[in-house]
Amino acid sequence: MSQPSNRTLVTSALPYANGPLHIGHLAGAYLPADIFCRYQRIAGKDIVFVSGSDEMGVAIMVRARKEGIEPAEIVDRYHPMIEESFRRFGMSFDHYSRTTSPVHAETSQDFFRTLAGKDTFVTKTEQQLFDPEAGIFLADRFVVGTCPSCGNTNAYGDQCENCGTALSPMELVDPRSTLSDAKPELRETTHWYLPLEDFQERLEAWIATKPDWKPNVLGQIKSWLTDGLRARAITRDVPWGVPVPTDVAEAAGVDADGKVIYVWFDAPIGYVSATREWATAQGDPDLWKKYWQKNEEGRPRLLHFIGKDNIVFHCLMFPAMLMAHGDYVLPENVPANEFLNLEGDKLSTSRNWAVWLHEYLEEFPPDLLRYALAATLPETKDADFSWKDFQNRVNSELADVLGNFVHRSLTFAGRFFDGVVPPLKNPSAMDQETLAALAEFPGRIGESYDAFRFREGVFESMALARLGNKYFNDTEPWKTRKENPQACANTVHISLQLCASLAVLLDPVLPYSAALLRGMLNLEDVRTGMPGATGSIGWEEASRPLLKVGAPVNDPEILFTKIEDDVIEAQIAKLGTKEGDEAASAEPYEDAKELIAFDDFLKLDLRAGVIISAEPVPKSKKLLRLEVDLGFETRQILSGVAQHWTPEELVGKHVSVVANLAPRKMMGLESQGMVLMAEDRDGALHLMESTGEAGGVIR
Ligand code: 2FM
Ligand code: ZN
Repeated sequence: MSQPSNRTLVTSALPYANGPLHIGHLAGAYLPADIFCRYQRIAGKDIVFVSGSDEMGVAIMVRARKEGIEPAEIVDRYHPMIEESFRRFGMSFDHYSRTTSPVHAETSQDFFRTLAGKDTFVTKTEQQLFDPEAGIFLADRFVVGTCPSCGNTNAYGDQCENCGTALSPMELVDPRSTLSDAKPELRETTHWYLPLEDFQERLEAWIATKPDWKPNVLGQIKSWLTDGLRARAITRDVPWGVPVPTDVAEAAGVDADGKVIYVWFDAPIGYVSATREWATAQGDPDLWKKYWQKNEEGRPRLLHFIGKDNIVFHCLMFPAMLMAHGDYVLPENVPANEFLNLEGDKLSTSRNWAVWLHEYLEEFPPDLLRYALAATLPETKDADFSWKDFQNRVNSELADVLGNFVHRSLTFAGRFFDGVVPPLKNPSAMDQETLAALAEFPGRIGESYDAFRFREGVFESMALARLGNKYFNDTEPWKTRKENPQACANTVHISLQLCASLAVLLDPVLPYSAALLRGMLNLEDVRTGMPGATGSIGWEEASRPLLKVGAPVNDPEILFTKIEDDVIEAQIAKLGTKEGDEAASAEPYEDAKELIAFDDFLKLDLRAGVIISAEPVPKSKKLLRLEVDLGFETRQILSGVAQHWTPEELVGKHVSVVANLAPRKMMGLESQGMVLMAEDRDGALHLMESTGEAGGVIR
């Protein structure tokens, strides 16, 4: 094992350039990474932070087809918009790239070529589904059909969202094309596969060296490893993506025409491409290697910040690719976050149940959202963002605690000490204790950030402002001003020193406010969290008084304005109103079905029922086992709702039940009926509640 070098490369997941950013993105992969990188830079560490837009893949094509335009037009619309929103939000990337860049095509093709040269891949020639009308092979989400495990008629070609089973298009029963609704034909095609099973043992051994990774991350990895890794196709026959290198195809005797690299193969290589572009912009094109490869300095650290839906790709597939390649280091940690909900409900772009970053930035300063999100990050479990909580955090924490402390300290300095830092003389016990307490803060906050406990770090940072307020209250400078002017001077001196340290320590989470505060204090020569920042005052220095006696300070400016109730109510009212960018092009409703005879309708036995118990079905992410009282008997019904409601939420609900559906087995259990619900176009479910007595006939 080589020694760690002092270089760190940090990545944030590449967002798909198929729509604007929302708070779910920020809470998962971006804000934590930004806080981390800003802190490390202020602490003087050598860190490079990259990301970029994920512009390949079927997700982009689906969006383009919906609008009837080319994929290139989609990414050219969203990439600049995403980049601009990130910039205004204060993301401190060293480089933000895009996967349509020529450097990325070259980097990912080289990577593919290297692995092919090492015989890492296998090629397989098989029959695959082809849409004769659209003229393309139906990969991933271009095909839907009936799930062979649970009977869901809208399972995708890569996964059934009802029961969670991973599928390939050929496993679907009655497949149909989502592009043309045509019945697919079978055509022969050849693809490259990454045989992940060959890496199982090495990956297991490597993961075993990471007991300190977050439990939510290790849990997912272990479940994939226990299931056993399988080969994944890493090429596609679709007209959008990084082309399979022709020389590799020729050597394999395959016609490369129309074949592209699978998006989950090229996207993580995008991190390498972005680092290469950064190095070139620094005027040292080989510099990227020092952040990706072992060298005489030692081994650089690689950290991936992602959301939980990306864990398998960053913790198993990309590491397998890196192992196969041989030149690269493996990630040292992947501090993935869970999901963020909004007002108690799953985020949904098509229902416009989201706070869109570009819209937020039109109305509020970036720091308020940075702070509110940082305080509620889904670090260990799913978390909830609510506008009321946002208002509380702004009004009673940022304004009442931090803003108030800064304001009263500077006001006293201005009014009673000619706007300069007064001298500290004969400090009292409380003065000394406060300075001693200050000395502990940078280390404590830094420890939290180093351990990816961002909520804790942000809480600790605010604790310094709380300490300041308490100190100011307890020393009562408004009294000592007349009775003991030196004691008053001491209070103002120390309060200003705390403000100065806050102007450094809050930079990771509140970069704009910290800069404003530095301006009020005339605090210069601070090393900020931005790339390339210089300055002799950094994290460690913030443990000591930073302001010189006699140095001028300015009158206070308002750091945080309180938010009124009506402003918050207007934001809440906007939710779900389908005005969002995505909503404009939401999926159409399903077509109406053919007419049926009245007698056919009468064959249905619909009943009112009451859910009397609900519990998870072992090994199923989607199913819950319900017991439903139908008055005349109790039924066991399996329902694919585990990701929509907790068992507790369902117990006691009055529902409508199809009571004469032939029983079906799912996950080894018999389902004796069906609970009816309405499904929105984006998959959100609503129970068909029925207020009648259990057993009542619905007609
Ligand atoms: O899930 C997503 O949004 C993907 N675009 C993330 C890619 S991360 C990386 F591998 F590039
Ligand atoms: Zn299924």
